[in-house]
Amino acid sequence: MAEKTDMNKDVSKILVSEEEIHARVKEMGKQLSEEYEGKNVVLVCILRGAVHFFSDLARAMTCHMEMDFMSISSYGNGRKTSGIVRIAKDVDTNITGRHVLIVEDIMDSGLTLNYLTKLLRERQPASLKIACLLDKPSRRECDITPDYCGFVIPNEFVLGYGLDYDGYYRNLPYVGVFKQE
Ligand code: PRP
Repeated sequence: MAEKTDMNKDVSKILVSEEEIHARVKEMGKQLSEEYEGKNVVLVCILRGAVHFFSDLARAMTCHMEMDFMSISSYGNGRKTSGIVRIAKDVDTNITGRHVLIVEDIMDSGLTLNYLTKLLRERQPASLKIACLLDKPSRRECDITPDYCGFVIPNEFVLGYGLDYDGYYRNLPYVGVFKQE
């Protein structure tokens, strides 16, 4: 069982180290601070995977912002997203006329963010952009690209820094490849 093992033993290799994440998130924070200076941005964390990225990115940004949270679950079997998303918790902020930055951990098929951006656009924000830590473009099933991306990664099953396997491993400080046996 996942909870009884040393988490590091279940990782076949480290794909993005803690230091690399830290450096890249700092860089992204600087870029986004310039982009959103004076715009009173709403940063939206998509729970649960984005939790660490969101927290680190927000603290790497120096502009005025509000933070909000959305909890979604995607109807799919196992690792495959169906693209049909159930909103378990919506943002509390009225985003009409606001600059909104969605913060996600990973874009895979793109179906989740495709659905979410359509939904949020209906509320007529002043702008709506996506910051994603990891992007797997080889898996894309729709026409969507993150506006800001931390790392483009190959098609491997990754976990850590918010990403899970069966609910576990989110607290690993790096992004690793799951050892599948
Ligand atoms: C992950 C991730 C995205 C989605 C990306 O969420 O956070 O929301 O999958 O996949 P897609 O591009 O194929 O749609 P997950 O369903 O694992 O939930 P979690 O964030 O709670 O771990």
